[in-house]
Amino acid sequence: MPDLAEIAAKLKIGAFHRHVFLCIGEACCTAAEGQAAWEALKDELKARNLSLTDGPLACYRTKVGCLRVCAGGPILVVYPEGTWYAGMTAARIPRFVQEHLVDGRPVEEWVFARNPLPNNQPDGRPA
Ligand code: FES
Repeated sequence: MPDLAEIAAKLKIGAFHRHVFLCIGEACCTAAEGQAAWEALKDELKARNLSLTDGPLACYRTKVGCLRVCAGGPILVVYPEGTWYAGMTAARIPRFVQEHLVDGRPVEEWVFARNPLPNNQPDGRPA
């Protein structure tokens, strides 16, 4: 049995403040577009030391196969803010990382929906 607590510690699970999900599914963008956006997201987070780190800007990233929007992709959502972005090609990723993740200002012209999550306690109860 793998030591999941050790894996979680290496991934800094418990330390991040945001989680970015990027859909690279082929119902909303081409495979090439999705993969390029994912590589750009990884590169930008690493360049700004936002991934696998501590501190208030620490961010976790996950690529997914479908967020059920299936149009206007690549689709990206940031939690806990619940900010949904469309058209997040590789060209848009650096500005998104700088303005939303570093400066805390969503890039409004690319946002198409919002669903902020409540600030729950670790056991799921509302804060
Ligand atoms: S394939 Fe991207 S949202 Fe469905």
